[in-house]
Order: sequence, then structure tokens, then C-alpha cells
Amino acid sequence: MDSMNQPKPVAGGSQSYLLTNTAIRAQEERRLRFQAEALFPLELTHLRQTGLRDQLRILELGCGTGEFLAQILDVFPGSQLWGMDRNERLLEKARERLPKGTWLFGDLHDEHTLETLFATFEPDFILIRYVLQHMSGEDARSVLRSVRRLKPRSCRVIAIDACDSELRFEPPSPALDSLSRKKIELQKSRGGDRTIGSRLATLFSEAGFEQIQQHRVVFDTTRIGWSAFEAVFLPIFLSALGESPSTEDLLLKQAAERWFETERDQPGALAAFSTYHVDGI
Ligand SMILES: C[S@@+](CC[C@H](N)C(=O)[O-])C[C@H]1O[C@@H](n2cnc3c(N)ncnc32)[C@H](O)[C@@H]1O
Repeated sequence: MDSMNQPKPVAGGSQSYLLTNTAIRAQEERRLRFQAEALFPLELTHLRQTGLRDQLRILELGCGTGEFLAQILDVFPGSQLWGMDRNERLLEKARERLPKGTWLFGDLHDEHTLETLFATFEPDFILIRYVLQHMSGEDARSVLRSVRRLKPRSCRVIAIDACDSELRFEPPSPALDSLSRKKIELQKSRGGDRTIGSRLATLFSEAGFEQIQQHRVVFDTTRIGWSAFEAVFLPIFLSALGESPSTEDLLLKQAAERWFETERDQPGALAAFSTYHVDGI
């Protein structure tokens, strides 16, 4: 597996979520932790429905800092956990966070890496969470096709991803609507797609998966609370403004933050983030 520790140039790699700025990466590492802690309890219900349980060999492709696998280990302490990611800095955090896991450098576009990884670890479950949104739909289909072809026969693959065209703010917030549109456009310009969630089932089908199941999982302020929603999702929308925002952008940021201050805990007020869990074999 030594060859996996060396960066390789990979065709089709997008520029989305490279996190080259150290301060931004540190903020994002904290956000990933809040995100896993706040969302996992609701995601677990669906993961159990797909057959996730204790004593399995679980591989996460695009594991980041390993926070999601850490949540899984808390509930299923007999799991064997492997994670793979193209960002060596995030993998360093994963190694500190969960020394019990095996953390490997690699890119999902690299079939040789996937083949070696699957043959060595023989996973029962493969998780791909908030990763495919950093690729075009075409690249996501091609990655899923490789995973389907190379994985062990009985291994189930679960992809979890966002669909930002289904965000909801009640009462409406023009500032948050504008920020989320900016974020969708920015990610698209870097080769990603923040609306991929609702198309995952189609992509699974086109990649040859069978026994496909889809669940829409909505994280709203009534389910995860206002503080968690603000800590997990507001930084995503604000990141649309980049490192040197214009005066107009700063006004947008203030208006978005004011919306949360004014509306939190008000009767009838709601913020909702929509995701899809799709699994197949
Ligand atoms: C939003 S983070 C999610 C991390 C983790 N899955 C979680 O749910 O906490 C997206 C991760 O996908 C990784 N990633 C994106 N494209 C990738 C690729 N082509 N190959 C491997 N990792 C990739 C990024 O480096 C990053 O760690």
C-alpha cells in the first residue's frame, strides 16, 4: 500500500474543496466535526436501514478528518475502519483523531488505487459522504461505475450528498437565498455540483448498481436546533464570499447573520438543509 501515500496526478480532478489556505482549512476541520456530531444521530437511522451494524469492515472514500467514521465507531465499536482521501493534511487530522483507523492517501478517480484498496481491505460497506458534490455529474457517474465494477460483490455502497436547490428559509431570506446561489455557482466554477443529491439514484442506476434505495434526509432547525444549524451550515453559505469580500458581499453576510439572530426560536420560523442517502449493491 506504500504507493498510496504518494500524490499522483489524476485526470478529471476538480478544483473544488482543495483547502490550500491554512486558516480556512482549520475552520473547515472544526466545521466537519460539528457537522458529524450534529447530523450523525439522524443519519444513523437510515444507515441501519441499509444494513450497517457492528463487526463490519467499513471504508469511507473521501473521509476528510475521519469525523464520520469516529461517530460510527462510537455506536459500532467492533467495526474495522479504513478511510481514503486526496488531502494529506486532513488525513493527518484523521490519524490523530482515530489512531485505530487505517488512513490512506488516494484519489477516487484513480482506478488502480481503488482496485488495490478493495482487494486489500475487502470492505462490507463503502461510504461516500459529501464528496461527489466536488465533481461534475459526469465524473461522479464515472467514479461510481469504477467503484461498482471493482468492489467486492456483496459490498454495499452508500452515497450521501446535499441538494442545495431544496434549501428552505421561513420566513424567506433574500440574503441567504443569494448566498446559497453564489455558493452553488462558485462550486460549479471549480468543477463541483451542490445539487447532486437528488440525482444520486439516477447516477447509481447508470453506474450499474442494483437494489437501489433512496432516502431524503432533511436537517432542519426543529430537528437539530438553531445553534447546530448555524454552526454547521451558515459557514458553507458564507464561504461563497471568498477571502476578500466586496462591501456588497459584507452587507449580504450581515443580513444573513441578522436573519438567524432575529428568527431563531420564533414560532413558525425554519431553516432546512436537504440531503439524499442512496445505496446500492
Ligand atoms: C466535505 S468533505 C467530507 C469529509 C467526510 N466524508 C465527512 O463527511 O466528514 C469532502 C472530502 O472529499 C475529499 N475529496 C474530494 N474529491 C476527492 C477525490 N477525487 N478523491 C478523494 N477524496 C476527495 C476532500 O478532500 C474532502 O476530504
